[in-house]
Amino acid sequence: MKKVKVRVPATTANLGPGFDILGASLSMYNEVEITPAKNSSGKFTILGEGKTILPKNEKNILWKAMDAVFGLLDIRDKYKLSDFNIKLKNDIPLSSGLGSSSAARAAGIMAANEICGDKLSIGEMVDLGIRLESHPDNIVPAFYGGICISVQGPGNEFFVEKLPVAKKMKVVVCTPGFELATERSRNILPLKYARKDVVFNSSRIALLTKAFCTNDFSNLSKAMQDKLHQPYRAKLIPVMEEIIEAAEKAGAYGACLSGSGPSMVAFCGDKKAKEVLAVMTKIWKKETVPVKQFILDFESNGAKIIK
Ligand code: HSE
Repeated sequence: MKKVKVRVPATTANLGPGFDILGASLSMYNEVEITPAKNSSGKFTILGEGKTILPKNEKNILWKAMDAVFGLLDIRDKYKLSDFNIKLKNDIPLSSGLGSSSAARAAGIMAANEICGDKLSIGEMVDLGIRLESHPDNIVPAFYGGICISVQGPGNEFFVEKLPVAKKMKVVVCTPGFELATERSRNILPLKYARKDVVFNSSRIALLTKAFCTNDFSNLSKAMQDKLHQPYRAKLIPVMEEIIEAAEKAGAYGACLSGSGPSMVAFCGDKKAKEVLAVMTKIWKKETVPVKQFILDFESNGAKIIK
């Protein structure tokens, strides 16, 4: 086995109304480098985000994803964690709604597949990733890049279509200094919805699709409205509405919660990005919550092996 290096982008899921359907990859990355270890003396190193808190053992989700590939290929007995030196370089903040778990899983799946001689197709890797994640909207763009629509068939199968990436658009990200586990943020959602709320969201997804297909974002703020998850999650992120309003007032086309939060994202032209970020940040600062700030682009490429 030679050295295997994989780079995976961050993702923002839902894009407002597309709960568990829409997701986009962003120009922020995690990297993993894996080399064979002599005499099963492997070292697990983590740099950057999560370096002091992520497990460096079999509980690490990157390893679990690698192990799932070995299981799928029926060669689980052949490999154990100590056979590898694993080095993670994480730029994506943890439990922040920017797809850090998906990035770890996609990296683990792609690296393990490479170690095994590239036996799985990209579709098979994505299917495995969705099974590990339980929802597709982060892991699909983490693998494929771009803005992805994930559509579940009658069984557990998914097919994916892409929306055009708005090349000149900036994605302004404001990440408050507290973590929010996806599970907690999902458990707060109802299991059933009123018909009018479902119709509300369907109309917004249609509008959002039109905006990206025509590169005309004049209706994006309407298109990013949501009634299926954001109103419930506002209990966990009380300044959500205030941030969306302020970002749009400062010139963003639209803004929303990123995935299950707590990061908020706003979409705007280059010239407005700094101003939009400043108003979003100000609201958290007023609450004495520290923030990480990023001005990103959409990333057209998904996870890839770096030679
Ligand atoms: N669609 C998922 C959710 C994304 O909103 O719970 C999780 O990041």
